[in-house]
Amino acid sequence: MTNESRPSSGQTNSTDIETQPTRRDVLAKTTLGMGCAGACALAYPFLDSLNGTRGEDLGGDDTVDVDISTLHPGQQIVVTWRGWPVFVQRRTSDMLASLQAPGVTQRLRDPESKIMQQPRDATNWHRSITPEIGVLVGICTHLGCVPNFNAPNAADHAGNYACPCHGSQFDVAGRAYKEAPAPYNLPVPPVTMLSETKLKIGVSKGDPGFDIANIQQI
Ligand code: FES
Repeated sequence: MTNESRPSSGQTNSTDIETQPTRRDVLAKTTLGMGCAGACALAYPFLDSLNGTRGEDLGGDDTVDVDISTLHPGQQIVVTWRGWPVFVQRRTSDMLASLQAPGVTQRLRDPESKIMQQPRDATNWHRSITPEIGVLVGICTHLGCVPNFNAPNAADHAGNYACPCHGSQFDVAGRAYKEAPAPYNLPVPPVTMLSETKLKIGVSKGDPGFDIANIQQI
């Protein structure tokens, strides 16, 4: 599940690697504690209950179908996929504008998503297959806590994610800010849009060979 023994791609160092067993411990607790983890991620709104239905055509927990027909701009829902919390968000025009704002991108560790933390069809400025819909695995790449979603509001039109454990911050595309400990962007799972109101997590039409087990870190 992790690639902790892999050679680094320049974003980590020996100290980071030495701390990885601790990360594994935290991640295990995160997965086991999904009830709490989901609750932590439900800051906005409470309809962020665990949603989604098993994809029946492709089998079991490997795919989850998500109805986004009632997901409004600026909101997210949280579903479970492979036991992980997955954030599904609908972005506003301000959220989208923030993803390309130089004042934001210059503060990010990997603004162009060069490190493999997403399928090829999400290796773009919005880290998704369609700009308005974002899908992220909600596991902090530092030690595995579940980041909180700070929805866009009057003071912050862009919104962001903040990890409650050690202060890592991510933009709404899941890109990690430099000044915080998370070394990598949040993972993006394989996603296929089934219609304008329904998507499938677990399979990528644009990158069918993608295996999330091969990303840099989850
Ligand atoms: S787990 Fe440490 S900042 Fe997220």
